[in-house]
Amino acid sequence: MSDVDIKSVLTENRLFKPSAEFTAKARLKPDDLKALHQQAEEDYEGFWANQARQHIDWHTPFTKTLDDSQAPHFKWFTDGTMNVSYNCIDRHLANKADKTAIIFEGEAGDTRHISYQQLHDDVCQFANALKTKGISKGDRVVIYMPMVPEAVIAMQACARIGAIHSIVFGGFSADSLRDRIDDAQAAMLITADGGTRGGKIVGLKEAADKALSSGCDSINDVIVLKRSGHDINMQDGRDTWWSDAIAGQDKTCEPEWVEAEHPLFLLYTSGSTGKPKGIVHSSAGYLLNAVTSNLWVFDLQDDDIFWCTADVGWITGHTYVAYGPLATGASIVIFEGAPVIPDAGRFWKMVEQHKITVFYTAPTAIRALMKFGDDYPNKYDLSSLRLLGTVGEPINPEAWMWYHTVIGKERCPIVDTWWQTETGANVLTPIPGVTVTKPGSCTFALPGMAVDIVNEEGEFITEANKGGYLVITKPWPSMVRTVWGDDERYIDTYFPKFDGKYYLAGDSARRDEDGYFWIMGRIDDVLNVSGHRLGTMEIESALVAHEAVVEAAVVSRPHEVKGEAIVAFVICKEDRPVGEDAEKMVAELRSWVGEQIGAIAKPDDIRFADGLPKTRSGKIMRRLLRTIAAGEEITSDTSTLENEAVVAQLQGEA
Ligand code: WTA
Repeated sequence: MSDVDIKSVLTENRLFKPSAEFTAKARLKPDDLKALHQQAEEDYEGFWANQARQHIDWHTPFTKTLDDSQAPHFKWFTDGTMNVSYNCIDRHLANKADKTAIIFEGEAGDTRHISYQQLHDDVCQFANALKTKGISKGDRVVIYMPMVPEAVIAMQACARIGAIHSIVFGGFSADSLRDRIDDAQAAMLITADGGTRGGKIVGLKEAADKALSSGCDSINDVIVLKRSGHDINMQDGRDTWWSDAIAGQDKTCEPEWVEAEHPLFLLYTSGSTGKPKGIVHSSAGYLLNAVTSNLWVFDLQDDDIFWCTADVGWITGHTYVAYGPLATGASIVIFEGAPVIPDAGRFWKMVEQHKITVFYTAPTAIRALMKFGDDYPNKYDLSSLRLLGTVGEPINPEAWMWYHTVIGKERCPIVDTWWQTETGANVLTPIPGVTVTKPGSCTFALPGMAVDIVNEEGEFITEANKGGYLVITKPWPSMVRTVWGDDERYIDTYFPKFDGKYYLAGDSARRDEDGYFWIMGRIDDVLNVSGHRLGTMEIESALVAHEAVVEAAVVSRPHEVKGEAIVAFVICKEDRPVGEDAEKMVAELRSWVGEQIGAIAKPDDIRFADGLPKTRSGKIMRRLLRTIAAGEEITSDTSTLENEAVVAQLQGEA
């Protein structure tokens, strides 16, 4: 169970009611929410069937709702056919063709508005280009792009023809890209010459070339978007510029009507073992929860401008950028750049300029911007905002209060949304016009989501403030279907306990005396750095792959802005490096991990010792390492350790 200290949040009892102004306009009023919960309780399957009929345009209507015959491989709406891209674009053309679908802003300040009609035409042209290159239903396409509209166009184009996309975040290294391409056996890679971030060019094509030269035999074609404009190498017969690929292509493309369960995408995410796993999402079930949560949680209405700051490389950028909001016919904002370029007022300037009404970001961004003070947000007119959201990690009450007062001017409800790559969409979250919020709590489960907390034996914990395993006790439409190519791993990871009855989220949680959920942290060896999931084993494997390293253990320590910082304890083959040698080795290992995984995985601290603290049975004392990493006093007895002397070395005292 997690070691997180819950005392600080146990004292949090401030309550915030949604303003009357917000509730008056809100899509869901208290009675509507009550009715939804009641319907879901009375007839769970009927509830989801109704939602699916209401929110998805079907090509062939489904007659079966839930198929649990192969549990825990659940299937939804199996005999229905539909197309996700049709649902995100075509169905709006009758009355919203000229409405802005995407407002794009580049880091340099360049902007573009793309209407639904234009998006349709662009997606169709690109879909036809994919077909010309031989891509068809079921083929895997890896997308390694900067955060530009073409990333969404590429995703939608894949969906249109039934190809399965897998986005690899642009910050991942060549090696990570190669591993994902190989695991997915992708036939095509879509990338760009480069992206811009923090004033620098991110050399995506260079990394792609490196990946392709060290594996990736399944790749036949590479499509390259010109974005940064710097010189890159184009390989004859393999690489095509995006503009050439779409030249002369038709602006219509009949959607491929796929069965509801057809995989829409894979998304690799970290778990407790070394190898990231390809989470498989379905088409209809995924889209359904994407739509309902965008309507219920983000309250999207026709005049809203929704900015979710997540990159499409993460699940949040799938459900709350590329798919969900478009399926509701909303206008979204896409930004390629860093929140502090040219200064820490960038987000707030964009809110003013684009009249953003709904804003969704991560606690790490809020904490980072909060550090720059109130003057930046106060310089801009934030009166267009009506709703704020957060995701990715627990938000500390202090950051919540800053968001509430300085950004939301005490007018905007905050939705603290708990969910995961595997859940596909929000699970625990306030409903903005209804729920009385508490800073730091993700409050309650959405209608139709059966969330609970159980103890080691799988018994429900009813006692207030007692921590346990967070579980979901009934299947839901947007749940992960399997791990790509590894059904066993799906079962071992998500249904390892409690006779496979409940989905195990991997988080620990408690409910307070009012029934509010509080997330306490991960129960497995997964770190949450700036809202990004990283497996400790993944980083350890990268470290031991370095020729100078024999053993490594990775833990985290609390970090003011990033939530958690990565601390690596490393044992070298040669003598323990000290002084300048140690500094050199730290720099070497940090850049090594950057190459192996990506810059987000570089350890913040690296400490060397002659050995790791182990019990006499050889188990690494991770709890002790966490205490050392946090710089806290060691209160446990270390005399039972096999090698007590290393403790002082790891503390930097010897
Ligand atoms: C954590 C991101 C507390 C949690 C959508 C979860 C949160 C993991 C919250 C999933 C939140 C996400 N409060 N913790 N509001 N949102 N988490 O797959 O540990 O990148 O299991 O999905 O992030 O991370 P993932």
